[in-house]
Amino acid sequence: MLLVGLGAVSTTTIAGVCAIRKGLALPIGSLTQMGTIRLGKRTEGRSPKINEFVPLAQLDDLVFGGWDIFEEDCYAAAKTAGVLDRDQLEQVRGELEAIRPMPAVFDQRYVKRLDGPNVKKGKNKRDLAEQLIADIRAFKDKHGCDRLVMVWCGSTEVFMKESAVHATVASFEKGLEQSDDAIPSSMIYAYAALREGIPFANAAPNLTADVPAMLELAARNKSLLSGNDMKTGQTLIKTIIAPGLKARLLGVKGWYSTNILGNRDGEVLDDPESFKTKEESKKSALDYIFQPHLYPDLYKDLCHVVRINYYPPRGDTKEGWDNIDLIGWLGYPMQLKINFLCRDSILAAPIVLDSALFLDLAKRAGMSGIQEWLSFYYKAPMHAPEVYPEHDLFIQLMKLKNTLRHMMGEELITHLGREYYD
Ligand SMILES: NC(=O)c1ccc[n+]([C@@H]2O[C@H](COP(=O)([O-])OP(=O)(O)OC[C@H]3O[C@@H](n4cnc5c(N)ncnc54)[C@H](O)[C@@H]3O)[C@@H](O)[C@H]2O)c1
Repeated sequence: MLLVGLGAVSTTTIAGVCAIRKGLALPIGSLTQMGTIRLGKRTEGRSPKINEFVPLAQLDDLVFGGWDIFEEDCYAAAKTAGVLDRDQLEQVRGELEAIRPMPAVFDQRYVKRLDGPNVKKGKNKRDLAEQLIADIRAFKDKHGCDRLVMVWCGSTEVFMKESAVHATVASFEKGLEQSDDAIPSSMIYAYAALREGIPFANAAPNLTADVPAMLELAARNKSLLSGNDMKTGQTLIKTIIAPGLKARLLGVKGWYSTNILGNRDGEVLDDPESFKTKEESKKSALDYIFQPHLYPDLYKDLCHVVRINYYPPRGDTKEGWDNIDLIGWLGYPMQLKINFLCRDSILAAPIVLDSALFLDLAKRAGMSGIQEWLSFYYKAPMHAPEVYPEHDLFIQLMKLKNTLRHMMGEELITHLGREYYD
């Protein structure tokens, strides 16, 4: 697994996998490691573990590598991130110290609050892409890997819109040559992965793989894409609660969400341009779940506000508050308050692991392009242009499990269930 950015999320993922394979902890939150899947009829009693049903890569076989703008090894980076206890880190210190970040492709224009010394130099962006490809090949050779997956776990870049340079592989490659400003660092990594036929996942909200040039490249090289922006704290709760309210046709007039967060991600998101990227990603879920065009009386006037406040004393232990103004029968108002005291990277790590393992599986199953069945993991799921993205967590889970059944030639589960009564 090649991780771009060895920060809080990546180091928590890597340290976690090392601890789990030593039997020191449990992979809680990971569908690939702990989930089961029902097969056949409810009367058959067949519910194997997902890990035993589909041929996933095993944790013992994983090797980690990555890039970062800071030189510290993975152990030091995990200490800086401050997510895991010192005692827990000591137990996997050797493995973590062996992982040293490769020099990054980075330009401060796209992440204003950061700067670091471990950065590649090149005559243009094309040259930087070729250097990444050389890194990828060297990593593969050194560790004797059969296959690779790349996950962007780097900082959230500034808000960008699709432009002409992103239209085709040819225009994108010309843009690389000319170091076009419309190509942020993250796109150079995605390009390098897709050129090598490696699946690419975007754990952050920045515009990276969601442009026609990347889709064309993925199709050409039979590579796979998934993203964007992992669905962890507040948005996870939102996509659990909102489908329930909608199912019971309760109206929602307002949804006010605010967070305090003190890690480096919070610091980067304190920059208005990076926050705009995150805000767009966070706000889309409710519109799609509530479908105001179908239910104007219930959701047309929804006022949805999202705030993130950088508050260093909290570190990675984020606190989110949601105030939901509801309306019920005859228009009577009600309120729901949610206070989630979560740990950002603890919620994110199983998603990084699962999405990498599922992408690798899908590649071997001959799939390519956007993997919409992995929407389950993302705040702003990638989707085909002609369909709206599916945000309802429960529909997403059904889609994911049905995809696994489909891959293995098992009957899909529709939940119709007439056969038990006819
Ligand atoms: N933790 C969560 O719950 C969560 C949820 C959704 C999305 N995310 C996103 O995941 C990303 C990582 O989060 P984090 O908490 O680990 O942040 P972090 O700041 O701890 O780590 C990000 C790392 O990326 C590095 N980096 C930035 N640009 C780079 C580049 N061009 N090349 C190589 N390295 C680069 C930084 O130096 C840093 O070490 C962020 O974009 C965040 O918004 C996190």
